[in-house]
Amino acid sequence: MQAKVRNVALIGAGTMAEYHLRGFRSAGADVLAIVDKNLSAGRAFAAKWFIQGGVYADLAGLQQAHPNIQAVSVITPNKFHHPLVLDALRRGLHVFCEKPPALTAAQTIEMAEVACAAGKTLQFDLNNRARLDAQFIKKRILAGEIGRINSAQAVWMRRTGIPGFGSWFTSKAMAGGGPLIDLLHMIDLALWFMGYPEPEFVLAQTFADFINDPDFSGSWGKAAAGARGRNDVEAACHGFVRFKTGQVLSFHNSWAEMVKAEDTYVTLQGSAGGAHIRSVNELNSCELYAEKEGVSHDQSFRFQNDLDMGRTRAPANFIAALNGEAEPLTRPDEAVKLMKLIDAAYQSAAEGRPVNC
Ligand SMILES: NC(=O)c1ccc[n+]([C@@H]2O[C@H](COP(=O)([O-])OP(=O)(O)OC[C@H]3O[C@@H](n4cnc5c(N)ncnc54)[C@H](O)[C@@H]3O)[C@@H](O)[C@H]2O)c1
Repeated sequence: MQAKVRNVALIGAGTMAEYHLRGFRSAGADVLAIVDKNLSAGRAFAAKWFIQGGVYADLAGLQQAHPNIQAVSVITPNKFHHPLVLDALRRGLHVFCEKPPALTAAQTIEMAEVACAAGKTLQFDLNNRARLDAQFIKKRILAGEIGRINSAQAVWMRRTGIPGFGSWFTSKAMAGGGPLIDLLHMIDLALWFMGYPEPEFVLAQTFADFINDPDFSGSWGKAAAGARGRNDVEAACHGFVRFKTGQVLSFHNSWAEMVKAEDTYVTLQGSAGGAHIRSVNELNSCELYAEKEGVSHDQSFRFQNDLDMGRTRAPANFIAALNGEAEPLTRPDEAVKLMKLIDAAYQSAAEGRPVNC
């Protein structure tokens, strides 16, 4: 029998690290050490969370001090996901990587291939799949209550929610893009509900209004005081996808756009029923729609004890799946399809035409 995976380390001790730490600990793993190229950020995090195995600038230093590490989380700015994931896999470690999987589909394909060659697990933090309401809807779909999902709408729109204004979040080179790639969660959720069909083509348009206006900054990922970075990504992206199965999806992602307030949802229309799942101020709810004998049967459900959008349940699932106690929530081939869709959406917006995936 294989030894249980218990010994893990975090790479990147920023805002998201706390969720990974709490998720790993809740699944029985020990976070032994931190890797952060900003050693003082790593030390502050280690002190706050009683992590006693030290802080290292890179994976080589970590492995030298802790040859017993079995898995790592990659929780750095998006640009570093690809090199760090490859490095960790080649060092024989299982990897849980923050979203987006990488900057491009090509990078994601390479990560999936290296994981396969190394015989190591690679999961991504598509945490909304771990929400209780998302799990509930997925079970109803698998039980056949929605039937074949013909169409879906995926929405994450904000009015004033540019994260890390002027930091790595708003740099195309560091983040890969703006709200399309950052708020990819509802697109992923819709695809997961639809059975992750292969995208055929995408038609999309981006808009850059407000992206340089600090009044449209959000509360997440505040840039360091005085940060003078670039804001060279989109403020909004709207698009339409046709899948090879004939299914369709429309998506609407924005950080800064004229909506009443932030809204986050997926709606599904199937051959047997419909569904709607929504998160407002992290209070999650869902609805199911059906017609029976000429009567509309609509049900609504609220999930009041699910306050972090699955951000601790997803890393907990990574450990449980490694130890054969749960099915993995994400697979690398799904991440590849997601990134193909995103690449095609940016290309479509740049070229003003539908683009094949
Ligand atoms: N799943 C979610 O809900 C969610 C929410 C926000 C952010 N994220 C993702 O989480 C990741 C991290 O976001 P954050 O808000 O925690 O960022 P952050 O800027 O707060 O922290 C990033 C940390 O990584 C460190 N770092 C940078 N480059 C490094 C390298 N090469 N090696 C080691 N350490 C390095 C930095 O010093 C910093 O401490 C991003 O990919 C982001 O898209 C996910």
